[in-house]
Amino acid sequence: MQNATILVVDDEQLIRWSLVQRLRSDGYQVVEASTGRDALDRVREGVDLVLLDYKLPDIDGVAVLREIKEHDADVLVILLTAYATVDTAVEAMKIGAYHFANKPFDLDDVSRLVEKALETTRLRRELRMLRASQAQPFALERIVGESPPIVALRHLLRRVALSPATTVLLTGESGTGKDLAAKVLHFSSDRANRPFMNITCSAIPDALLESELFGHERGAFTDARQQKRGLLESADGGTVFLDEIGEMVPALQAKLLRVLEEKAFKRVGGQHDVRVDVRIVAATNRNLEEQVKGGHFRSDLYYRLNVLPIELPALRSHLEDVPALVTFYVDQFNREFRKSVRGASAAALKAMQHYGWPGNIRELRNAVERAMLLSDGPWLEPADFPALTGAAPIAAGLSLPAEGVNLEELERSLVVQALERSGGNQTRAATMLGLNRDQIRYRIEKFGLAKTT
Ligand SMILES: Nc1ncnc2c1ncn2[C@@H]1O[C@H](COP(=O)(O)OP(=O)(O)OP(=O)(O)O)[C@@H](O)[C@H]1O
Ligand SMILES: [Mg+2]
Repeated sequence: MQNATILVVDDEQLIRWSLVQRLRSDGYQVVEASTGRDALDRVREGVDLVLLDYKLPDIDGVAVLREIKEHDADVLVILLTAYATVDTAVEAMKIGAYHFANKPFDLDDVSRLVEKALETTRLRRELRMLRASQAQPFALERIVGESPPIVALRHLLRRVALSPATTVLLTGESGTGKDLAAKVLHFSSDRANRPFMNITCSAIPDALLESELFGHERGAFTDARQQKRGLLESADGGTVFLDEIGEMVPALQAKLLRVLEEKAFKRVGGQHDVRVDVRIVAATNRNLEEQVKGGHFRSDLYYRLNVLPIELPALRSHLEDVPALVTFYVDQFNREFRKSVRGASAAALKAMQHYGWPGNIRELRNAVERAMLLSDGPWLEPADFPALTGAAPIAAGLSLPAEGVNLEELERSLVVQALERSGGNQTRAATMLGLNRDQIRYRIEKFGLAKTT
């Protein structure tokens, strides 16, 4: 591997020296460290391979190995040891050591081992790039995250994709992934080879929206010199995504209702029915129920759309997915910007998991993009994310309703939710709420929740 950086860690100067000389003459960049702490500092600066002495003056080799692997599992580690017992060997292999070299070692052997290890690293990275580039852009896996709400979301989308006629209503705050979910739904269904048509109801003037959606006959209005097929017709056999459906005017709502109920409509200025087979996926970040109550949205259309509501969770409710999302976007922007950023540092990830993300995943994506454009280091640091240090706290996503709240009830409900989301794991639930174990135990008792845990 060209330009590979190798870290040599040993407290014995002579051994270090001979390894460094040899690896440099093999053409590698070599950095060195004589203590475990130094080694971890070097690793944070970015290395590809570590030759690690098992017995170090400050921290023992296995602990250093563990930290390296936690930091970046792609970095391979070869342990150098004079007295490998079977137990230590097994333990080190479990944590992820790549190989052992017994002291005293033969420099030629080490050199060959290093070459093999770096080849492994190169292949691993290549495979990852290849997988990423070949992954279907809108496969279910494109929805990143392993938190319970995201796992449930993927599960639901998979089920709905299998019933390609069902109407779907996607709700959720801005930036939570409604567009993405609509595309995933289409491309995972057997409509995938047919068109996916997307129309943003609020972006088009009402009169135009009607003819865009339903088409028009020749002479239907002044400019209508030709007959024109609408989006619904063009999408026949496929999916129509109606974004910001809450903005649709009542006249069009009535026409859409007929499409849902009878799969038929008339073009603007037309006399006879046009029949289509489309799946309608609608999305809104407004509360449609409120719109219905306020008389802005037809209740019959609402019930017809609401057959299968899918709510996209706000990012602040699944902050445990932040590291995976960051990795996903770092990979993406590395490819786009031809950079080789390794990820976000532990401190940056921590700050990101304590932020409320009012703009949800879109905001996170933009933050990573900005950080990667501006940062030069191998790791993204908290300072690369100015929004986080400005501490828009989690509460930014919550606002006090006009009628006020019952704080005790709210607290109880949050504790219940945290316990549900953590599958009853009190430690994880406590972390979600910024509490320690005693504090959450106190609340579990106070609210009589012991049974649910
Ligand atoms: N679970 C996810 N994994 C990876 N990327 C995601 C996920 N959810 C959303 N995204 C990405 O976040 C960004 C915003 O998502 P999207 O445009 O789908 O949001 P939206 O809900 O339609 O927002 P709006 O209401 O503002 O239209 C997109 O770049 C999308 O690819
Ligand atoms: Mg959208």
